Amino acid sequence: MTAPVIPDYLHRMWETLPEGRIPAKIFNDPAVHTLEKQRLFSRAWVFLAHESEIPHPGDYVLRWIADLSVIVVRDEHGQVRAFRNACTHRGNQVCKAEMGNASHFRCSYHGWTFKNTGELIGVPYHREVYRGRLDRAEWGLRPVRIDTYGGLIFGTLDPNADPLDEYLGGFQFYLDFFLKPGPEGAEVYGPPERWVSDTDWKICAENFGGDGYHTPVAHQFGFALGFYPSSGRTHFMGYAVHIPGRGHCIGIGHTPGLPPFVGFPPEVVEGYMNALSPEQISVFRDARMSVATVFPNLSFLIQPFSLAPGQPGLKFCTMRLWHPRGPGKIEMWTWCLVPKHIPAELKHEIYRVYSLAFGAAGTFEQDDFENWTNLSRQHAAFNADSFELAYLQGLDLEPIADFPGPGRAFTPYVTEIGFRNLWGTWLNYLLTPLGEPVDPARVPPAFHPPETQPVAD
Ligand code: FES
Ligand code: FE
Repeated sequence: MTAPVIPDYLHRMWETLPEGRIPAKIFNDPAVHTLEKQRLFSRAWVFLAHESEIPHPGDYVLRWIADLSVIVVRDEHGQVRAFRNACTHRGNQVCKAEMGNASHFRCSYHGWTFKNTGELIGVPYHREVYRGRLDRAEWGLRPVRIDTYGGLIFGTLDPNADPLDEYLGGFQFYLDFFLKPGPEGAEVYGPPERWVSDTDWKICAENFGGDGYHTPVAHQFGFALGFYPSSGRTHFMGYAVHIPGRGHCIGIGHTPGLPPFVGFPPEVVEGYMNALSPEQISVFRDARMSVATVFPNLSFLIQPFSLAPGQPGLKFCTMRLWHPRGPGKIEMWTWCLVPKHIPAELKHEIYRVYSLAFGAAGTFEQDDFENWTNLSRQHAAFNADSFELAYLQGLDLEPIADFPGPGRAFTPYVTEIGFRNLWGTWLNYLLTPLGEPVDPARVPPAFHPPETQPVAD
């Protein structure tokens, strides 16, 4: 691997981040994009797939860790595995379809054939051309280390990365709101929608880490036309929680006085009451919406939306991956997650609501991407390294002392504390040389110390 080039302004950012200043250039810089591949995506746990995308033996999907193609497959015994999608003979892509079912992958170049356990079992003219010098056991597909939480399959290229449980650092408590709408959990509703856009993945990951500030402005038509219930003067209320040094963050918008789990159908309200712990219920029962990012680039959102103006909104859940495709360029992946235990018609109804708001042609989606592509264009300017952005919200806030969930929780919901932690974590990865562990306790000078509260049982 070529020696990493670290732009000077990243070192300066280490000093200015605690004061709430971030150089705009980080959001669209070819040098940063290269460094992210070398030091972040090579070491973090990156989301690959949801288990419900590959329910049967032989089911597979193709996914990415930065620009590395990865096969995620359920083998004949039901075990989920992941492999680098490259033949060990010359490196040809052994699987070309985006999804399917296969017991074997046969390379289209010289015909080496691999079982879906990765084993190399077929080599044309094996005896004649290798004459005993090719040990098939040594040349299977190269496995990618994976682990799962709540149906999410993550992969990491770093054999020394902390276990996924530690990496999530208690964020599981909050993820359950998106992943466990009932004792059976959630499943994807169909394949993901995907498109390429001219924006930086970090802008999107940050927005979905809890940017409640933009909603009444960027999405004001939704309120005005009656597709999205206005929260009026209570909009800023609720919690912002982050896991110090790990980067994960969530915004939970509260409107007081609403019925528990308002906006969900009765089957789902009951599902939550059975699947979540009392502490989780106390945090989420009053949530009118919630939005979260798992560092680095996986996000979730639950919010209500109406199929027709003025109708009561129905809550949907979307899971989205901000896949970096180049400096200032992402490939967007979005899924609708539905509770497994509810009737098929209700799943479809939730999917329709999701599509209207956050599918490829979704109204909220377009509001966001118009802003995101515009600002990303500005950040590509030659001198954007000296143009500082204001991340000043919540500089004086103290964490809530008796919050029932892990991490550091603050109120109000509209704040930028979690974003400073997000970019502090990101910077920590980029400035920690390969071969050294990325220490979550290492934070920029004067940054809040990474205290955590005990994880609730
Ligand atoms: Fe796959 Fe040669 S590259 S068999
Ligand atoms: Fe938005």
